[in-house]
Amino acid sequence: MKLGKRLIVCVISLGLIVGSLSGCGNDVQEEEVKSIKIGVTVYDQYDTFVSQLIDRFNVYASEKEAETGVAINIEVYNAADSQPTQNSQVETMMGDGCNVVCVNLVDRTEPKTIIDMAEKNNVPVIFFNRELVAEDLERWEQLYYVGAKAFESGIMEGEIAADVFKNDSAADKNGDGIFQYIVLEGEAGHQDAIVRTEYSVSTIIERGVEVEKLNYAIANWNRAQAQTKMTQMLGEYGNKIELVLANNDDMALGAIDALKAAEIAPERWPVVVGIDGTNVGLEAVKNGEMAGTVYNDKEGQAKAMLDLAYELSTGGSLAGLDMEDGKYIRLPYAKVGVEDVEEYIEKSEMMP
Ligand code: GAL
Repeated sequence: MKLGKRLIVCVISLGLIVGSLSGCGNDVQEEEVKSIKIGVTVYDQYDTFVSQLIDRFNVYASEKEAETGVAINIEVYNAADSQPTQNSQVETMMGDGCNVVCVNLVDRTEPKTIIDMAEKNNVPVIFFNRELVAEDLERWEQLYYVGAKAFESGIMEGEIAADVFKNDSAADKNGDGIFQYIVLEGEAGHQDAIVRTEYSVSTIIERGVEVEKLNYAIANWNRAQAQTKMTQMLGEYGNKIELVLANNDDMALGAIDALKAAEIAPERWPVVVGIDGTNVGLEAVKNGEMAGTVYNDKEGQAKAMLDLAYELSTGGSLAGLDMEDGKYIRLPYAKVGVEDVEEYIEKSEMMP
């Protein structure tokens, strides 16, 4: 979708026809239980994982609407990587009478403006995917976080890599018994990037595989940036690279794009492992380009967000939600290899 000057990228009216594109609606006060309004702002609408998560969120909203008879109106804004833009989007959504606002923070260290607005307007906020520090989440009682168990993803990625090294002698290209690796990292300072890099490497070592780090590069979760960085590292290390640990699937795919562009025969490729299980990532596991991925449960996270937003908006109970400390919902990850990839592809295809 082309970005214009308007901040609203998408308005979905499920059930009730919302009269105008510029607001969340106008009759929430009188019909609170019949109609709710949920505002969502994402840090970057072009992020593959986040956009697939929001697709799921919309699907679950339609299902919830059919199940409960409550009209659920959702607005999705794109903050386009600007925290000030996101702050003003939240202000707009609160002014429009949204019952709950879901925020995928641009800068996870800068939630203060949004938290202050939330408290002032008495509108609960569900932060998701980009985790703020616990002290910030404690600033007001109506703040929540939905995400994943971050450290698990790194451990599982490390397990996949270690298993390949132990079971396939071809992975050790120079036969020195050491796994020479590079890391493609997400954004600097992002909780998932930090934790995934650390735990993937420490897990490989714990599993008894000796490793040698050749280099790392920050590619901001982005396929094109990862291709550029991988091309540079191929120039420097060439065939010495035996393992690419990517903090997400898009960057793993960027590395593969670089290998293809360099016309390196697939049997000479390093082992490439990703995280997310996006549709394209699963395809790459299926066709053997990636050794495996770690499923970041977008369905579970989207459903948890929707259920929580629904209960908060309708004054329902949070008792049925699997919450930690009354504030956090964290979904588990799962390892995906070629043997079980089909199951995950089916899970993804069941969704539009
Ligand atoms: C991670 C995900 C990445 C990217 C990032 C954005 O959890 O694995 O692909 O979407 O969130 O915050």
